[in-house]
Amino acid sequence: MNSDWYKDRVFYQIWPRSFKDGNGDGIGDLYGVYEKLDYLKELGIGGIWFSPFYPSPNADYGYDISDYYSISPEYGDLEIFKKVLDRAHSLDIKVILDLVINHTSDEHEWFRQSRDKDSPFRDFYFWRKGKKPGKAPNNWSSFFSKGAWTLDPKTMEHYLHLHHVKQVDLNMDNPAVREEVKKIMRFWLDMGVDGFREDVITYISKPKTLPDDVFFQAVKGLRFYDCGPRIHEYLQEFRTDVLDKYDCFTVGEAPMITPEKALTFVSGPHPDLNMVFGFRHMEADCLLKEYIPLPFNLRKLKRAFTHWQKALNGRAWNALYLENHDHPRVLSRYGSEKYHDESGKMLAVSYMLQKGTPFVFQGQELGMTNFALKDISQYKDCVAHNVYARAAKILPEKLVMSVIQRATRDNCRSPLQWSGAANAGFSEAEPWFPVNKNYPSINAEDEDRDSDSVLNFYRKVIAFRTQSDIVRNGDYKELMPMHPHLYVYERRWQGQTLLVICSFTEKACRFRFPKGFDPSKAQPVLCNYKNAPQADGRTLLTRPYEALVYKFY
Ligand code: GLC
Ligand code: CA
Repeated sequence: MNSDWYKDRVFYQIWPRSFKDGNGDGIGDLYGVYEKLDYLKELGIGGIWFSPFYPSPNADYGYDISDYYSISPEYGDLEIFKKVLDRAHSLDIKVILDLVINHTSDEHEWFRQSRDKDSPFRDFYFWRKGKKPGKAPNNWSSFFSKGAWTLDPKTMEHYLHLHHVKQVDLNMDNPAVREEVKKIMRFWLDMGVDGFREDVITYISKPKTLPDDVFFQAVKGLRFYDCGPRIHEYLQEFRTDVLDKYDCFTVGEAPMITPEKALTFVSGPHPDLNMVFGFRHMEADCLLKEYIPLPFNLRKLKRAFTHWQKALNGRAWNALYLENHDHPRVLSRYGSEKYHDESGKMLAVSYMLQKGTPFVFQGQELGMTNFALKDISQYKDCVAHNVYARAAKILPEKLVMSVIQRATRDNCRSPLQWSGAANAGFSEAEPWFPVNKNYPSINAEDEDRDSDSVLNFYRKVIAFRTQSDIVRNGDYKELMPMHPHLYVYERRWQGQTLLVICSFTEKACRFRFPKGFDPSKAQPVLCNYKNAPQADGRTLLTRPYEALVYKFY
């Protein structure tokens, strides 16, 4: 965990089920990934993060693991994975895996055995008696189901699951569990993997007494298991015993975390993790979660971006993203489907030129968008079903469906649009999940040929940022923070400055070059329109969703 290679690369997240079907059964797989490694190389990608591809009953599509040491037959086997790994490495692409250790599937062998009170695996999980007969051991709620506890009639004890009933929380206080985690890490690192994205890692340490949530704290997202009492101790143990012995890196998923708290994980001489994924910037059009929608608010987005940039500057390294497998497509949220190409490109500029390591989620580079299905039965996301089961009882069906259509994670999980051919070129068979109907106009093959496409613009931005010292090292400063439609920031490094101007509206906005930025000395480096902007002396008028980047010497 000593070298800095992760700072110079752009990562690409593959959600294997929807990336590319290589063996014709309608399900994405590692054969498909192998075929498409050159596509990623051409995009300028320097690292892949694989969402889970391990055996899983798929209650939460791979985030419920039943065996940590192999590949689900749906996606291939260890042999094809090793081929993917070798070929990626020969293209100078690093590979990191999803490490899901907060919970296992209820079909994992440890959990099967732990259902027996006398099993040595009993203490791998949280088994507790109810407060009273018929009552859960505490009042914790679950993200994906009704309550966080499920009663096992065999022993009349409840087990803890913060997510789906089939995702059982591991008891990290048990040293045997931590040894198993280390074994898993070593297994994949020894195979040549370059690190891990660590799933809900800030939840792995629960307080011993499992105290009840305090209502007013819980509504703000403050939970006793979030950054729990022994979290740093455990992460240090993983680092010292395993990670330090490899040239690898880690990025932890940290729901709700503030930058100040994040620093306790990612700064100092021997940090727990190299980077964390924060969530604040994903809340610019909702209240905490996409399921409570609000109008898009650029100031909220800018505040979140700038807060992280400032807090971590010189102390730690940011992980930059606008999409992953847990959020609807960003173009449909913060951009505009009407100005598809313009806003898709502008969004790329808005986050990728900040300081940190950018992540691109599959299809984001094509400008893939949300798409609505009519009936709840067509959705696969367990969160959508949980929300439906609870909300449709008390609210009109139409309203509930419209919220689900906008918020569900399935929006970004439709098959990747490779071409205008049948099934979007994703598979020869009918895909496991419907393809977005807009694939005839939004797809990789056509965008590859069109020099003006979103895809080709991503290639440009990635190439630019990978070669730019200013983007890698420069200080970040936001300008015009109160502007409701323009996001403007500068990056400064060794006497050179980049000025980044992004418009988040179709309206024309008058932009005045601030003091110290002489427009006659501005060298344009990126723009999402073919022609130069409409400039006039010290000011310019932005076009819909325009992105402009200038360099000043
Ligand atoms: C993380 C994953 C998400 C999953 C959850 C439970 O948030 O990104 O997809 O559902 O953890 O594992
Ligand atoms: Ca397949």
